[in-house]
Amino acid sequence: MTHARSLHGILLAGGTGSRLYPITAGTNKHLLPVYDKPMIYYSLSTLMLAGIRDVVLITNPGDVDRFERLLGDGSHLGLRITYRTQAQARGIAEAFVLASDIVEGYPVALALGDNLLYGSGFTGLLQSAVLRLTLSGGAVIFGAKVENPREYGVAQVDAEGRVTGLEEKPAEPKSPWAVPGLYFYDARVVDLARALSPSARGELEITDLNRRYLESGELHLMRFPRGMTWLDTGSPDQLAEAADFVRTLERRTGLMVGCVEEIAWRQKFISDDTLMVAAERWGKTPYAHYLRALPHDPAL
Ligand code: G1P
Repeated sequence: MTHARSLHGILLAGGTGSRLYPITAGTNKHLLPVYDKPMIYYSLSTLMLAGIRDVVLITNPGDVDRFERLLGDGSHLGLRITYRTQAQARGIAEAFVLASDIVEGYPVALALGDNLLYGSGFTGLLQSAVLRLTLSGGAVIFGAKVENPREYGVAQVDAEGRVTGLEEKPAEPKSPWAVPGLYFYDARVVDLARALSPSARGELEITDLNRRYLESGELHLMRFPRGMTWLDTGSPDQLAEAADFVRTLERRTGLMVGCVEEIAWRQKFISDDTLMVAAERWGKTPYAHYLRALPHDPAL
């Protein structure tokens, strides 16, 4: 009998962040603040909400120690975080090859470290994506309606909501449905990524990988309903807008967005005691105070 192959996660946090120069000349983009926490917390939250406990974080060789300082081996979050490096910009889909010694043979979710996803039905959506992957295999991607699809991967969709085509940063997008940086794949993904050829710009494109699944009729698109928010944080304005968004929500409700310790605790990855140890590390900050109060207000 084969035992269940648990879904693994890859967090992509490399690159030069050149669209944010000079901000990113001295630091990794994914460690910049989005209001009250580092950017990487938001995408890590997404993987954790999908139930993932095995995470491979891929970053630039010179940045590994910074992420290790922030996240360690993940045990304070009930996770197992391993680090791998991408020395050159060889594309998003290379992530599966770089993490292959850990993720090969498992279904994998890939989250881009500069994407922020938030919405009331989001956890349910993630659960349906995972269920679909478990029952039918293939790949699950999402669609988010945006004003500027030409900056993203874009999915062409028929009347029944099935994907009929995929294009990376098309000059003339055929739909408003951009594909956010969160992808779920079955256990064949490492082999499929290895078989890709570099694009004209010399990268293994995530859109080409998705097209492989589309061509075999195994690509499923889940379109976000109204009320789901997808932000990316690649330019100064987007970064400021994301910070404003988080700040507005948190100040109004008193609930945090993308608080990885809270999610670990609510997902029962960690106990009350471990949550308190995690809170200790953040001293007397409002963030630490929030964590300490959680077990006393479990209804939230
Ligand atoms: C990448 C992908 C693109 C996707 C986007 C989401 O683009 O290539 O398909 O829509 O992430 O953030 P990048 O932002 O790396 O140019």
